[in-house]
Amino acid sequence: MKQLLTISDLSVATGLEESLIRFYESEYGSRLPEKVVRGDGLFFRPEAVAVLRDIHLRHGSGNAAPAPERGYGRVIAVSSGKGGVGKSNLALNLAIEFQRAGHMSLVLDADLGMANIHLLAGVQPRYTLGDFLKEQISISELITPGPCGVGIIPGGAGIMALADSTARERRQMLGALESMEKNTGIMVVDTAAGMGAGVRDFLLAADEIIIILTQDITAMADAYGLLKGLRQEGLRGPVYSVINMTASLKQAAAVAGRFASCAAQFLDLRVENIGYIMRDSSFAAATARRTPLNVFAPQSRAAKNIRNIAGSLLRGAEKGIKMNSAFKRYMKMVNIEAEEKK
Ligand SMILES: Nc1ncnc2c1ncn2[C@@H]1O[C@H](COP(=O)(O)OP(=O)(O)OP(=O)(O)O)[C@@H](O)[C@H]1O
Ligand SMILES: [Mg+2]
Repeated sequence: MKQLLTISDLSVATGLEESLIRFYESEYGSRLPEKVVRGDGLFFRPEAVAVLRDIHLRHGSGNAAPAPERGYGRVIAVSSGKGGVGKSNLALNLAIEFQRAGHMSLVLDADLGMANIHLLAGVQPRYTLGDFLKEQISISELITPGPCGVGIIPGGAGIMALADSTARERRQMLGALESMEKNTGIMVVDTAAGMGAGVRDFLLAADEIIIILTQDITAMADAYGLLKGLRQEGLRGPVYSVINMTASLKQAAAVAGRFASCAAQFLDLRVENIGYIMRDSSFAAATARRTPLNVFAPQSRAAKNIRNIAGSLLRGAEKGIKMNSAFKRYMKMVNIEAEEKK
């Protein structure tokens, strides 16, 4: 039998405060699976996690809920110049760490060519963003519950559609993303390498961008190329670097230093290093088990490194509630609303 959950387990798994869970229980109790008696306590079934997420997404921003945050969640895009440097693994494991720290987190798989977050997380999503455009499915149906309660949204062909679509479709999609942003603590966006058409929207919309590089000289050159392209397109918001697959702290510091000084000198852009991840064979073992590293081997070196990166990002968050939507701001930036009126 699957593990039963206490209210505090449920709070960790959903990122919702216990008081809010109690409120949803009293308002929408009939939708939740029946609780189970064990010993002298009542426990939630694991299915309650997905149901509560759904309730929160549908009703959380309505007037009925007592204290959901009024602002928007952070949108953090993970990118790189070169492929295969560890974006997808970092995106998923960061979201897990955020969730463990009590922030309701989503991973949006915006890599059309090699969408693999669901494989790394060991889940089988039913819908993709593309289905959302075509069919009458709700936003909450788009979100597949993943490990530790992280929500996973497969981008699928919808990501490309975003690049090629009409102003109306683009607006519909960005509107959906805005709505997710409203009901989420942190959204981590995994992208394909570089700045292809389908990726551009997400990198430019994000509040913050993490660029992963390795000591490989081509990774550095390609990362610089990406940053230059983003700069020309009106990049805003902070850019962070993460050095992956490194053999030593000294080596990581040298790579980060070189990258930051190139960005400062030639692009007039500040790139802050927020950490490094050691080369660690636990990644391969975790992938083979279709389990995220931070669940499979939470005490491994790389898992600890990722925990530190998550900690830096959480500490660096602005105080107070974010009142602007990343996707709405982006919609304005590319002037979709005006285009649509034509
Ligand atoms: N620190 C590390 N140590 C050892 N192996 C790693 C490390 N980080 C990532 N890997 C491995 O590198 C490979 C690529 O990782 P991942 O898929 O996360 O990269 P990516 O940047 O998303 O790739 P793509 O550009 O193809 O989407 C995987 O096999 C992963 O297990
Ligand atoms: Mg990837």
